[in-house]
Formats: sequence, structure tokens, C-alpha cells
Amino acid sequence: MASKRIAPSVLAADFANLQRDVEMINKSDADWFHIDIMDGVFVPNISFGMPVLRDIVKHATKTIDVHLMIVDPDRYIKTFADLGSNILTVHYEACTHLHRTLQAIKAEGMKAGVAINPHTNVSLLEDVINDIDLVCIMSVNPGFGGQSFIENTYKKVKQLREIIVRNNASTLIEIDGGVTNKNAKQLIDAGADVLVAGSFVFKSTNPNQTIKELKEIINT
Ligand code: DX5
Ligand code: ZN
Repeated sequence: MASKRIAPSVLAADFANLQRDVEMINKSDADWFHIDIMDGVFVPNISFGMPVLRDIVKHATKTIDVHLMIVDPDRYIKTFADLGSNILTVHYEACTHLHRTLQAIKAEGMKAGVAINPHTNVSLLEDVINDIDLVCIMSVNPGFGGQSFIENTYKKVKQLREIIVRNNASTLIEIDGGVTNKNAKQLIDAGADVLVAGSFVFKSTNPNQTIKELKEIINT
């Protein structure tokens, strides 16, 4: 069994000390950088855009996992590839031609991810599961860090794991929103592979230590 991953969400970092926080993640036990891009249309918030991502990538030494919470993501696939994204995740709810979008992401040399909102049933992904490298199950409504975890997520993780096994797919399951040391183990036991954690890491007194604790919880 491959080791389970932690992806700190840079959204919760201190943007006035971004290089410091990026270097903290570099040195920590974290696996990926989770980067939230919000457009103020698909979600009711605007995070940051290309210039900030460019500067994060300049310092980051780990996988760049970009979560696009934007309408019409096809317009920016090449841009995010050129910026250095390794995984590009689009929202199921924002893609009219999801299969085409996934192929376009892979054609740019990135891994293709699909995020689903809390109201979206995992069964809607069955016909494209073999084309998806990562499914990001939103465990909060996207748009803001620091929200409470939605308990129905465990059921969705189990259902998605069944779909992946049934189709002999190698898709990773990522959980995004409200992840803490209280739900991490149960999420992994339900079938998750990657946990995103924003506030729980960055609002803690010792983020490096918090990442280490999360990694230990999910890999024991
Ligand atoms: C929410 C974002 C999340 C967020 C998670 O829209 O997609 O990645 O940063 O933050 P926490 O861990 O604070 O819920
Ligand atoms: Zn996210």
C-alpha cells in the first residue's frame, strides 16, 4: 500500500510571509502543495492568481497540486501547465465536456483531477473514472478555508473507492476541507489517499509538527 499523503493548503498561509511558509512545507513531512485558485464566480471568494502561483513554484520543491475553483477552466489549462502545475483539478460542476477537459490537461503533461461539491454524487464519475488521476471530494462547500467538515464525506469516500476497485482504476482519492487530527484516520480507513489541510496546519502553533502528526496518524 503506497503511503498516504498530506497536502497543506497554501490558502491558509501568511501571504506576507509566503516564502517562509513555502520553505516550511519544503522542510516538513508534507507531500504536496495544495493551491486553491478561486475566481469569485464559481465560488463566492477570490483567492490569488498566476503571479502568486509563479512565485510559490519558484521556491517549492514538492508536487504542485492546483485546485481550480473557476468557471470555464479549459481557458487556463495551458497557462497552469506553463506555470509548473503537476496536478490540475477542475470542478465537475464547471465542466460541460469533462472528458475532453481531462484529455486536454493530460496533453499538457499534467495529472488530471476532478473535484466534486458536497451535493454531487460520486456515481457521476463512473464513466470517466479510468481517465481521472485524482478525485477531490470536497468535504466543505468550496470557497473558504476554516469551515467545518461535512460528515457525509465518509460515505462518499467508501462509494468512490468501490467505483475505483470495480473499474480497476488507479485514481487517487483526495479530501479537501475541514481536515483535522480528529477525522484524518477515519478518512484514510474509508479509502482516502491524500488529505488537504489548511487551517489545521497553519493556525496551529507549530505547523511543521502538526504536519508530522497528521502524517503519523494516516500512516499507522
Ligand atoms: C476550500 C479549499 C480548501 C481549503 C481547505 O474551498 O478548496 O483547499 O483551503 O482549508 P481548511 O483545511 O481550512 O478547510
Ligand atoms: Zn482546495
